[in-house]
Amino acid sequence: MTDTKEYRIGSLAAVEAGEPILTEAGGQDVALFMCRGRVIATNGQCPHAEGPLHEGDVEGTILTCPWHGWTFDLESGACQEDDSIILERYPVRIDGDDVFVSL
Ligand code: FES
Repeated sequence: MTDTKEYRIGSLAAVEAGEPILTEAGGQDVALFMCRGRVIATNGQCPHAEGPLHEGDVEGTILTCPWHGWTFDLESGACQEDDSIILERYPVRIDGDDVFVSL
């Protein structure tokens, strides 16, 4: 069994300001997206070939990886090209302006 740990990884105002953010928690790259008014945290690396997901385009809930165009639903992690792949997502907690993720 692995322990889950919570990390403060950024400010809500910074995420709300626009572009997705790449941050780090516990040695893991974490990307933060604002999606339909909610902060979503995912693995910062694409499960295909580790492309930088924070540089991808987001339309609605769909994130497109900048390297080879694979698409992921930010609300479920589902990969639209291969349903055996799920983009890793992490629980988010907001406290004031602080964004925390658990991983
Ligand atoms: S690295 Fe993301 S689609 Fe290839």
